[in-house]
This record gives sequence, C-alpha cells and structure tokens, in this order.
Amino acid sequence: MTSVKENVARSAELTDSESARLDVEVLLGHVLGRERTWLYTWPEYELTAAEQGEFEALLARRKRGEPVAHLTGEREFWSLTLKVDPSTLIPRPDTELLVETALRLCPQSTLHALDLGTGTGAIALALASEKPGWQIVAAEKSEAALVLAEDNRERLGFTNVKVVKSDWFAQLPLQHFSLIVSNPPYIDAADPHLSQGDVRFEPSTALVAERQGLADIEHIAAQAGDFLGEDGWLLVEHGWQQAQAVREIFTAAGYRDVESRKDFSGWERITQGRK
Ligand SMILES: C[S@@+](CC[C@H](N)C(=O)[O-])C[C@H]1O[C@@H](n2cnc3c(N)ncnc32)[C@H](O)[C@@H]1O
Repeated sequence: MTSVKENVARSAELTDSESARLDVEVLLGHVLGRERTWLYTWPEYELTAAEQGEFEALLARRKRGEPVAHLTGEREFWSLTLKVDPSTLIPRPDTELLVETALRLCPQSTLHALDLGTGTGAIALALASEKPGWQIVAAEKSEAALVLAEDNRERLGFTNVKVVKSDWFAQLPLQHFSLIVSNPPYIDAADPHLSQGDVRFEPSTALVAERQGLADIEHIAAQAGDFLGEDGWLLVEHGWQQAQAVREIFTAAGYRDVESRKDFSGWERITQGRK
C-alpha cells in the first residue's frame, strides 16, 4: 500500500515536465476524486489497489509526454471546467487576455458576438458566463471539436451560445456582429516548439497556419469586415512575435483603432481593430 505522500514524491520520476509536482497532484486528485488541497490534509491516506493501478497507468502516460488535461479529460478556463480531448487545443490561460479585452471593449449587456474556431468553446462560453444577455455564435470546422464544444455548452447550461459548423465564415449566413473574436491557428509549420511539450499531442489543424503562421489571421481579417456592424470590433490572439505583422494585416484590411495588447509577461499577444 502506498500513501498519498509517497505518491506525490514520485513527481521526481517526471524528469521532462516543468510542472512535475503539480502534474502528480492533479493526477492523484483525479484518481481519488478529490481537490488538491485534500492531498495535503490526508498525506497518510493509503491508496487502494485499484486507485494505485489507475494512478500508475496515468503516471506512465504522463512520462510519455501526454498532456495532463488529456489524462484527466478536463481543464479550467475562466473558472469554467471544460471537457477537453485530442480533437482541438487545450485552452490556455493566455487566451483569458482575449476574453478580458473583449469584455472591456464591449461593456454592453446585449450584443451579437462570434467566436471563430471555438474548439472546446472556451472563449464563447467564458463570454457567455459574464454576459448572459449576449447572443454568441461559436463556429468550428472540426466535427469532433464541434461535438466537444456543444457538450461543454450543454453541460454548463449556456443557452445564449449557438455552436455551428463553419469553415471560418463560409457556412455562416450573412449577418452583422458587434464583436468577432478568434484564437486561430498561428504557428509556422517549421516552428521547433511543435515537437515539444503538450502541442505534440494537439492536432496541427488547431495549431499550424501557412505563410509563417499568418494565413488564417489574414483570411479572417479580410472576411470579417462583411460580418461586422458599424464600429464592430475584431479581436485575434497571435504569437508573441507576430503583433506587428498582424497590425499591418488589420490596417491593410481597412480596420481603424488598431492596437495590440500585452499579456502579463509583457508580450503583445492579441490585436484589436474596429470596422
Ligand atoms: C488555436 S485553436 C483555438 C481553440 C479555442 N478557441 C481556444 O482558444 O482554446 C484553433 C481552432 O480553430 C479551428 N479551426 C481551424 N481551421 C478552421 C477553419 N477553417 N474554420 C473554423 N475553425 C477552424 C481548429 O479546429 C481549432 O479548434
């Protein structure tokens, strides 16, 4: 029999993870159906054989590099617990900057918004949780991700979000939104980070774009004008080295008040423009 404390110490085995202790605590909490704080309250608790077996299997998969979120099947975003799977991106804390900025730019209590490439539904559902009076369309191309987004929407009970299948704007009926947000694929196919960490287990359809990662942003900026009402905002997330290129794309496409915003580390990670 092995105690919680002894199992937590096995974080030393996760030599490739930068968050080894946290990873092990999350996995143990998942197996035991407990919050992480419980592990500190009951360090002497001895796992049953079944619990230990489940933990060993998850630890082995984590050693092979699988993201913790894929092992537990969920991830917190904007204080919502979202189901995740390998069909799309695991929501990142970085994307909360996009949600915060959208809420700051659009204080209205009623509004039509569009989230392009919704994945798990993270951005659309976070906005819906703050703005029950908004009507939000969450569009996605991947069938599997659509099922996931709809599952998250239904489980969290947001009736003001509509999940729809669309290749960017192509299948959307022409309509005007006051806000269009997107965290599109923006990584260059040759970026060495694609062979490191969690992204190895995420689909390239959620990560990679042509033309140094800018092709999808160019496409969205070119088309969004037709779907934005007067003074409507377009807001996209991008890589930390892409801000200037994205501002140029937005300006060339005719947007005004084009600005990029920095994350907590000082990197310009989102760009906004107004029709
Ligand atoms: C970087 S992920 C973002 C997921 C989610 N919005 C988030 O922030 O966690 C990009 C998403 O765009 C979707 N996507 C890629 N190409 C698309 C297209 N042509 N039309 C619609 N969605 C697309 C991918 O399937 C993926 O779910």
